[in-house]
Amino acid sequence: MSDCEQPTPLEQIKSLYTELAREPDKDFGWEKGKVNAKALGYESEWLTVLPDAVWESCAAVGNPFSIGKILPGQTVVDLGCGAGTDVCVAALLVQDHGKVIGIDCTPAMVEKARTNAKLSGFSHVVVHEADIAKLPLQDNCADVVISNGAINLSIDKISVLKEALRILRPGGQLQLADMIRDNVKNELAETKNDLWANCVLGTLTIECFAQLVEEAGFEQVSFVSKTDYKTAENTVGGKKIEKKSLANSGYCLGKGLCSQPDKPDLCF
Ligand SMILES: C[S@@+](CC[C@H](N)C(=O)[O-])C[C@H]1O[C@@H](n2cnc3c(N)ncnc32)[C@H](O)[C@@H]1O
Repeated sequence: MSDCEQPTPLEQIKSLYTELAREPDKDFGWEKGKVNAKALGYESEWLTVLPDAVWESCAAVGNPFSIGKILPGQTVVDLGCGAGTDVCVAALLVQDHGKVIGIDCTPAMVEKARTNAKLSGFSHVVVHEADIAKLPLQDNCADVVISNGAINLSIDKISVLKEALRILRPGGQLQLADMIRDNVKNELAETKNDLWANCVLGTLTIECFAQLVEEAGFEQVSFVSKTDYKTAENTVGGKKIEKKSLANSGYCLGKGLCSQPDKPDLCF
């Protein structure tokens, strides 16, 4: 097994995030909720406008909205949406002529995300229970794919990234916040499965992650910045941005171009 491969206990993930959905006040050993979101730079308007319930089970490790602009009318897909905090923020940004689609594998989170969207008065939000490695969505249907603290939890990260690319329209963008491995040494592997669910064991170094992103077919990949979020001594929150298509290279946030035809409105 290479440094880039590890097993994942899906049942551990579902169990932990069911607990977070149902007992948001419990101490899980990492930051969460509204205070954490504020610390990660979520705008005060969002914190005020969205109901408190939307923030209570939020397990953000970064702020995908700080990486690129989301515009009114766009379609946004959130991979591993949890209780739907980022789904609701995106719903505010795309407004009611846009669309937001949340995907999560934990039924209690899916239920909570749907409830939170309803509570916020959004009718342009849909949440699917599914594996982010196998999205129940059409090709080229999203303008922006976001994810926050979820891809590190997948055992099949290459499929997750390929699926993100598949559903993005030409020129679409992946705005990703996730945990990154700071130290490749990992003595705790195999024995402590809950460390996978807690965003520790499934993390990759930035080099391994970049390798996967390239393999998936993304271009114009930029590692934007570290966040202060920690899940263990050897992890660090990070923000990345990937373009579906080729235009510029290097570390930039410029617009991409693509030869494929645009196919909007296929997600619902
Ligand atoms: C750390 S939480 C983050 C939730 C949310 N993005 C947020 O910022 O609050 C990770 C979420 O990813 C979901 N998840 C983990 N692996 C998944 C997979 N393979 N497919 C779908 N969802 C997954 C979990 O159920 C959990 O809700």
